[in-house]
Amino acid sequence: MFSVRDDINEAVGRRWRALDPMLPAPRDLPEGCMAPLVVTGQNGRPAAVGVCRHLHVPDDALEQVWGTTTRLVLTPRLREPDNHAALDELLGRWREHLADLPAADHHETTATIDWPSRDVSGVNALLKHGMQAITVLAVRPAGRAIQATDTEPPAGVVIREARPDDLDAVMEMELGVIRFDAHFGAAIMRPSAEALVRDATRKALARRPAWAWVAERDGRLAGLVHVQPPDESVWIAGKTRPGTTAYLQTMFVGADERGGGLGAALVKRAHDELDARGISITLLHYAQMNPLSAPFWSRMGYRPLWTGWESRPAAALR
Ligand SMILES: CC(C)(COP(=O)(O)OP(=O)(O)OC[C@H]1O[C@@H](n2cnc3c(N)ncnc32)[C@H](O)[C@@H]1OP(=O)(O)O)[C@@H](O)C(=O)NCCC(=O)NCCS
Repeated sequence: MFSVRDDINEAVGRRWRALDPMLPAPRDLPEGCMAPLVVTGQNGRPAAVGVCRHLHVPDDALEQVWGTTTRLVLTPRLREPDNHAALDELLGRWREHLADLPAADHHETTATIDWPSRDVSGVNALLKHGMQAITVLAVRPAGRAIQATDTEPPAGVVIREARPDDLDAVMEMELGVIRFDAHFGAAIMRPSAEALVRDATRKALARRPAWAWVAERDGRLAGLVHVQPPDESVWIAGKTRPGTTAYLQTMFVGADERGGGLGAALVKRAHDELDARGISITLLHYAQMNPLSAPFWSRMGYRPLWTGWESRPAAALR
């Protein structure tokens, strides 16, 4: 039977295709914690549907550093090109639902929505309800050139594959990104982070061919770019159109080496390898308020695809 969900998904698919060719077709709505919230438009048809899910990040998951442990996630589908009124009402209804949850004012909860970055008509409703743009999922279709006068490594620096015996230095750089992004609400440095990062890094450095590259100066590591291969990027690949998708999980240059072209040289090396391996789309996250990230990634050929909006704690949703 053709349901309200299918009907609205079709309309949303048409809107998304027109808004941004890098968006996927909208997936079936997930099962929620209750029946979907439905906002009826003036013509009597559903103008908005939203499904709320309550996600708990386990203690032993590295994902713990990328946000609160409890995430109340709304998956919205908005039919109309100008969706301010429908989204405003949907968020009001969601707020009433969250207000019934005793845990919603705990600092480890967020109310969160992933919103297509180019769907600008929803932004004022998200702001009105007290949400903040915290993260950006950015996309680069293969072949987009880096804008830099020079992508050679700075003098005295060698870029090479990361090896298992780089573990301590690579781990320090992985932690460096978490520490840096913690300034912008995108990461939370946790006591368990070191052990979790060490474990994940050890596994990542054992991959062959390598998917991580480091910059070395005088025997010391000065920078890192680390990519998840397509089979490990499945968790995020559905956020973009079908392709062979890889996820760039870490980019770090030591503070004393920044601004000298090392970042661009590392990304150039990674892109050359990804192109040669048939990767058609690369995704990455950056913190919306990280002043170094957005301009850097734009010059590297990436642009916003999804914006991660949050209210923290969840009860802060207005
Ligand atoms: C983001 C980051 C990786 C960029 O690395 P980087 O080595 O500084 O990058 P580049 O040197 O290639 O480019 C950065 C700036 O230096 C300038 N630059 C590039 N080559 C240069 C050169 N040869 N001489 C002087 N400046 C240069 C660029 O124009 C750019 O300037 P602008 O963006 O301020 O206009 C680095 O700042 C970093 O690790 N930050 C902390 C962690 C972080 O934010 N990681 C990204 C998380 S998503």
